[in-house]
Amino acid sequence: MLNIKYYDNDRSFHLTNGKISYVMNILRNEQLGHVYFGKSIQYMSSIIDCRTNLIVPLSPCVFDGDELFSLENTPREYPSYGKSDYRQPVYQVKNSDGNTISNLVYKSHKITDGKPKLAGLPATYVESDDEAKTLVVTVVDAYLKLEVELFYTIFRDFDAIARSVRFINHGDDLRLLCAQSMCMDFHDCDYEMMQLDGAWGRERHINRRKLSAGIQSVESSRGSSSAMHNPFVGMLKQTTTEDHGDIYGFNLIYSGNFRGSIEVNVFDQTRVNLGINPFDFEWLLEKEESFQTPEAIVVYSDKGINGMSQVFHKLYRSRLARGEWRDKPSPTYANNWEATYFDFTEQKIIDLAKQSKELGLEMLVLDDGWFGKRDNDKCSLGDWYTYDEKLPNGLDDLGRKINELGLIFGLWFEPEMVNMDSDLYRAHPDWIIRVEGQSICHGRNQHILDYSNPKVVDYIYEMIEKVLSSAPIGYVKWDMNRNMTEIGSAYLAKSRQKEVPHRYILGLYGLLERLTNKFPYILFESCASGGNRFDGGMLYYMPQTWTSDNTDAVERLSIQYGTSVVYPLRSMASYVSPSPNHQQGRSTSLKMRSDVAMFGTYGYGIDITKIDENVKKEMQSYIGTAKSNRDLIAYGDFYRLMSPFDSNFTAWLCIDGKKEKFVLGYYKVMSKANPELRKVKLVGLDESKNYMCVETGIKYSASQLINVGMFMPEEEMLDGDFISYLFNFKEV
Ligand code: DGJ
Repeated sequence: MLNIKYYDNDRSFHLTNGKISYVMNILRNEQLGHVYFGKSIQYMSSIIDCRTNLIVPLSPCVFDGDELFSLENTPREYPSYGKSDYRQPVYQVKNSDGNTISNLVYKSHKITDGKPKLAGLPATYVESDDEAKTLVVTVVDAYLKLEVELFYTIFRDFDAIARSVRFINHGDDLRLLCAQSMCMDFHDCDYEMMQLDGAWGRERHINRRKLSAGIQSVESSRGSSSAMHNPFVGMLKQTTTEDHGDIYGFNLIYSGNFRGSIEVNVFDQTRVNLGINPFDFEWLLEKEESFQTPEAIVVYSDKGINGMSQVFHKLYRSRLARGEWRDKPSPTYANNWEATYFDFTEQKIIDLAKQSKELGLEMLVLDDGWFGKRDNDKCSLGDWYTYDEKLPNGLDDLGRKINELGLIFGLWFEPEMVNMDSDLYRAHPDWIIRVEGQSICHGRNQHILDYSNPKVVDYIYEMIEKVLSSAPIGYVKWDMNRNMTEIGSAYLAKSRQKEVPHRYILGLYGLLERLTNKFPYILFESCASGGNRFDGGMLYYMPQTWTSDNTDAVERLSIQYGTSVVYPLRSMASYVSPSPNHQQGRSTSLKMRSDVAMFGTYGYGIDITKIDENVKKEMQSYIGTAKSNRDLIAYGDFYRLMSPFDSNFTAWLCIDGKKEKFVLGYYKVMSKANPELRKVKLVGLDESKNYMCVETGIKYSASQLINVGMFMPEEEMLDGDFISYLFNFKEV
């Protein structure tokens, strides 16, 4: 079924895996035209009708004497500005003549098995060549001597297409002003745009809005993919729900500045562009230099938002995440941050570890404050050596003691940053991102190291490598707590200053590649003040990301629900935190906090040395449940059932691949007097099976759970605010 075919008569390409189809053709002006993307089709020549047969008044036309061919309303694959198309271009080059006109026309194409790697950038991959096929179409501008390779990979097992672009300059110096990863033109505009918006502490909330004329977009210019908008754009019908209807998902595998835009033109056509943010971007491409864009993943599903999410989940957890921990669920853990903040001693950490052991946890993570002279957030970032007064016996000794208890020892770093009050900054004040002659903003009293400078990256590699080799460290939390301002580099030439944000990300990726190769056994977790960099780029190096600093159970319902639109549960780091909650002061039960954290990685961020016997027993039982459900949660199929964005209730379930068992989470936020009878209709079950609820012993047919639903226990009505239930089901 997996096939990429070139039809010589039509000069067209059809990519299919039997479930989705992608069709494009070579237009009359030799540029590449877009024809179709969606559910798989039986290809017939009649599909190729990219020629518009309407004369568009006022539109410039391409051929003399021919008023029928304008690019203004022609669907295209990789469009430029300046040759009769007035929609947003997906690339723009400034040439040595000083203008930005270019004309990329078909030169050749190549169809291969498998999927090539992207130099220096994270990307989806295959483990054997029969998993995917790749089409590379080479288009050229003969005058500029610019060659551009357009990559399209279609996967056998995932209804997704991976796209990226490589520019190769054989002529005079060029400046890329825009180099995005993909464009897709649609013939209609009757859609909504879906985006994942937020801020610190309330990341990735789902936002749907009807498309209207003009450009609607999401973007980041902060140097990180950001908590404000995720590098994801969805396009779906107004009638599309979690389980029904058409949806297209576009996701950029990139951790820096991006823009995803949707433009509706006067002919009710829609253009989706996604890639590096062209705002404030410029890249000098000298003769024989090349530029590789990040990869964009394009998914189509006719099975609603859940259907699209499951494609992303399966692809990302098996063919984007890598390394030993890709196929292992995260260990259960305790983290000392919200338990002690900076105020801890070696003994306190050991006590936390001992109690972790008794609770049944498997890892102890020592968070911020173990290095330099770090007692607050004003100093020591960059000085990655042990704070002797706090840890007099050193990291190795502490790690061994924790290991002797049978726990993994985990450690926090923030390797991209430096405080001015640090030995590193005092030695290298020119190693931070800044511009000469301008004052500099700080963020959390810290500054960003200039990772566009390979010397800085090498230095940090040496430092981190030394620490990781010096002690039995099995987990690293890689934090990053501010965004870029006054973007400039003392290392780069004046002509390359606009390259800093992308070069920074390339420097970061290079560093992560080296460290993860050197320490393959270490579980890396990405973090950026919580979820300020929750993206596929980081997922390539680290199978999990701290989902949000906000650990309030109610807010986490929205954050985790929204994050799951694209990212798998295996990637969502979460733990049970203190109540009242430290980020917004709400008090919730231990059960509710645990039932929410359960749908991610699972741990405790509480001072567990101070709990009484009853709480200890309660925690032990939740930890037991988390362990018994973790394979299911990490590798099962996740279905969102009731949205916290729509009502007072949230429900979701996770079912194993064989549909033999599943776990259902149900959450009520506010209590109500004289309430309605509440039930949840389940989806994703095997309709031919019967299941028993382990907690109640009640048996149900799957068709009953799907069509009638499961009634929630009566006490749910009267138990007050913040109530949750976790029901395990197995096939009977
Ligand atoms: C921000 C992170 O999101 C927190 O979990 C914690 O690690 C702090 N940084 C430590 O400074």
